[in-house]
Amino acid sequence: MSAEPARSATAESAPGAGGANVPRHVAIIMDGNGRWAEKRGLPRVAGHRKGVETAKDVVRAAGEHGIEVLTLYAFSSENWRRPASEIADLMNLLRRFIRTELGELADAGIRIKVIGDYQAFERDVVELIDGAIGRTKANAKGTLVVALNYGAQAEILAAAQQLAQESRDGAIDPASIEFTHIEERLGTHGLPPLDLLIRTSGEMRLSNFLLWQAAYAELYFTDTLWPDFDADALAVALADYAGRDRRYGGL
Ligand code: IPE
Ligand code: IPE
Ligand code: MG
Repeated sequence: MSAEPARSATAESAPGAGGANVPRHVAIIMDGNGRWAEKRGLPRVAGHRKGVETAKDVVRAAGEHGIEVLTLYAFSSENWRRPASEIADLMNLLRRFIRTELGELADAGIRIKVIGDYQAFERDVVELIDGAIGRTKANAKGTLVVALNYGAQAEILAAAQQLAQESRDGAIDPASIEFTHIEERLGTHGLPPLDLLIRTSGEMRLSNFLLWQAAYAELYFTDTLWPDFDADALAVALADYAGRDRRYGGL
């Protein structure tokens, strides 16, 4: 077993493409759509709709800052607990987002990646997602990771199950299992380590998002509801990040 606390904590002093102290990998828990709508006497779906507009603006702004990877939490494995009508609204927004935005993202050189068990979605949504991934897989200007039916505990559990199976098959010696063996079996394999995790709407919890990957991420919480978050709000979060001292347990 390696004595290193986490491999992902070693490589990230490299600055992002945008310059010193720009995080290479930013993840966002896009929360507060429902409350944004309720405050205006609108149905929750109106908040989700505005939230999609915010996501488009933030993807664009992240690219301008030189952020290499932006990971957006769009649907958690716990969001199935919502009313069927809201889930249907979210799926329709996802369909529309892919149909209307894929061309622009593809032309901008963005690679789309998905983490989470999106195969559980309806067939046509799965096909749209697979199409988006396939069409953009050779792009290299930046990566947009969308977390869909994602849960971090299930992601880690699946890695553990794979390793257990490989051990039983004799492909790996349990005594030689390292942090890297787990990381290689997570959905985020191959991406730069998570530098900054943002959550909007004032909630201070991770809600089963990137539990492994956040081991040494900087956390940033804002009361701003996701539909009100914008390029300026992202710039504020990045400025806050730039002033942080990441010590990784050292001095
Ligand atoms: C986040 O906004 C979007 C999703 C979870 C899909 P919410 O829908 O959770 O909004 P609030 O938290 O109810 O305000
Ligand atoms: C987290 O938000 C999931 C997404 C933003 C997709 P939730 O609104 O589902 O989280 P909880 O229920 O407040 O923890
Ligand atoms: Mg919420």
